[in-house]
Amino acid sequence: MKIATRSEIAPFYVMEVMKAAAERAEATGEVLHLEVGQPSTPAPRGVIEAARRILDEDRLGYTDATGIPALRRRIARHYRERHDLEVDPERVVVTVGASGGCVLAFLAAFDEGDRVAVTEPGYPCYRNMLEALGIEVVGLPVGPETRFVPTTDQLDAAGPLHGLVLASPSNPTGTTLTPSELKALADHCTSAGIRLVADEIYHGITYRDPAPTALAFSESAVVVQSFSKYYSMTGWRLGWLVVPDELVRPVERLAQNLFISAPTLSQHAGVAAFDCGEELDGNVARYAANRAVLLEAFARAGLARLAPPDGAFYLYVDVSHLTDDSPVLCRTWLDELGVATTPGIDFDRVRGNRYVRFSYSESTEDVTEAARRIKAWMGHTRVS
Ligand SMILES: Cc1ncc(COP(=O)(O)O)c(C=O)c1O
Repeated sequence: MKIATRSEIAPFYVMEVMKAAAERAEATGEVLHLEVGQPSTPAPRGVIEAARRILDEDRLGYTDATGIPALRRRIARHYRERHDLEVDPERVVVTVGASGGCVLAFLAAFDEGDRVAVTEPGYPCYRNMLEALGIEVVGLPVGPETRFVPTTDQLDAAGPLHGLVLASPSNPTGTTLTPSELKALADHCTSAGIRLVADEIYHGITYRDPAPTALAFSESAVVVQSFSKYYSMTGWRLGWLVVPDELVRPVERLAQNLFISAPTLSQHAGVAAFDCGEELDGNVARYAANRAVLLEAFARAGLARLAPPDGAFYLYVDVSHLTDDSPVLCRTWLDELGVATTPGIDFDRVRGNRYVRFSYSESTEDVTEAARRIKAWMGHTRVS
């Protein structure tokens, strides 16, 4: 029987790394996880308590395709509180994580054959989803010379574009756009008729200045957000979009047909997440401590060429002085040190062989021990 060619997209390689790490953990009982891209904490207590209550009280049927009004209103209020911006709750669409949000945004904004730019390195699922939808992906290579941020000159040189997908803070680099960088890109997109899709999933996890939202600079941008990272709720499969007025109905129709609604229990409990700032900021304080441990150890170990680690919980490190085959290096570290890391090839098909992504979302104890082992390994592996 026929299998659709649209399924011939690349696998999400980090999932394969997680599989190898799980196999080793099963065989030897121990792996330090610097490969995982998710918080090591459960949902905040307030969310868990709300979920218990709702389980007893609610029938948990379908909701409106755009989400329960209480959550849409609470998300809109969040923009007033965090960014001093008025957002009409009608423009908020509750989704099945940022992943479900991306699918809806891409389907609503782009047609087959349209050209959409993504950064390289960048989150691999954008490219893979766009390709599955028959949309032409235009890679924008970014590197240390521009802080891993794309420039308006690059957009000009890319030829006619219908869209640009940007994540700030970024996965895998952690780079966070400054307000002026984001404004310049948003203004360029507006004047060139390019739909900006801004993935703000790592908002709330920053170590210098808070990340600005694209909503402050663009009326046509689609913002993608999620409860998965700052709110520590990956498995609850909950996220949201903020869409411009003209996309509200298109996104609603697509959501009705594709998903019916986001998980009802998660939606009701998710309202409480916005009142759990103290606990969630405690998680961010731990990420900050872990980040400091890794930066210090890596500086001493000669792993100092890295993207600006402004936010998220990743370091994206240039290991080209060690290897031109980062999957082999990651495999060596897993086998010899019991430390799991992610090779850059997931995020950048061209230069990813020279990079490794380290996640520091696990406990400080684990991160410290992993840093110690890598530093010791670097000490007796002579590198120039
Ligand atoms: C940049 C980025 N966008 C989207 C996602 C998907 O997140 P969700 O769990 O909300 O679907 C991830 C997950 O790692 C991510 O890193």
